[in-house]
Amino acid sequence: MKDEIKTHWNGRAAEYDKNVRQVIYSDRERVTWQKIFIQALGREKLKILDVGTGPGIVANLLSDLGHDVTGVDVSESMIKKAMENSDALHHSLELVQGDGERLPFESGSFDAVVNRYVLWTLPDPMKALAEWRRVLKPGGRLVVVDGTWYRHGKDKPLSKKLLQNLSVPLIMITERRMPKCHDLDDDIMNNLWSSNLKRPEADADMFKSLGFSQIQIVNALNKRLLTNLDYLKNGHCGERFMISGVK
Ligand SMILES: C[S@@+](CC[C@H](N)C(=O)[O-])C[C@H]1O[C@@H](n2cnc3c(N)ncnc32)[C@H](O)[C@@H]1O
Repeated sequence: MKDEIKTHWNGRAAEYDKNVRQVIYSDRERVTWQKIFIQALGREKLKILDVGTGPGIVANLLSDLGHDVTGVDVSESMIKKAMENSDALHHSLELVQGDGERLPFESGSFDAVVNRYVLWTLPDPMKALAEWRRVLKPGGRLVVVDGTWYRHGKDKPLSKKLLQNLSVPLIMITERRMPKCHDLDDDIMNNLWSSNLKRPEADADMFKSLGFSQIQIVNALNKRLLTNLDYLKNGHCGERFMISGVK
């Protein structure tokens, strides 16, 4: 499954970057995301690892806050995009191609490990969380931002299906592009742990069983992140949340 996931993200890197890069290039989105991470990490300058960095969105906005950031991603095409964004913003990120479940870093290397929209896609979330905990210094914080993307597989409630149908003409008119359907292969989607468990409750259980303390959950991030128009275009994809805990 991991090879299929890597192929999926390699194939989507350019178009994914185009769709999400406004987070680092637009003031409104960048500042909103920065406030969300400040809420979890505070303002002290930290050595941070962004796992599954993709085109380096979170890595760049944390670097902008003065942190020393390393990004790792399994997809070489995503790392290339992350390098382009980091160069364009004159940030000096360390970017490494590697597997988030077998990180090429010593134990206890980072003050914080963060990731956005990554955990849902990993076949063995406990293994990944344990690996992220390994590279944290004692007292370091793990911050996971994710969404309820494929909950219930293809059996979305009617309200979500209607929103999804409405989103197509809205995206065509406001963004002058034809939205593509990126649903994963049915087998992968239905077998992913994240399609079948209630989140973030399931995440909190995993954090607890791995020994994380001071677990904090911030729900309903869509309200903070999406304008009304964004909600009509993307609200059908799922609700975003943040969960964090201390090693
Ligand atoms: C939805 S994208 C999120 C990218 C980025 N974190 C963001 O916030 O835009 C998921 C990313 O996770 C990466 N990924 C998936 N499995 C991975 C693994 N085992 N190790 C490292 N990265 C992985 C993908 O290559 C992709 O870049």
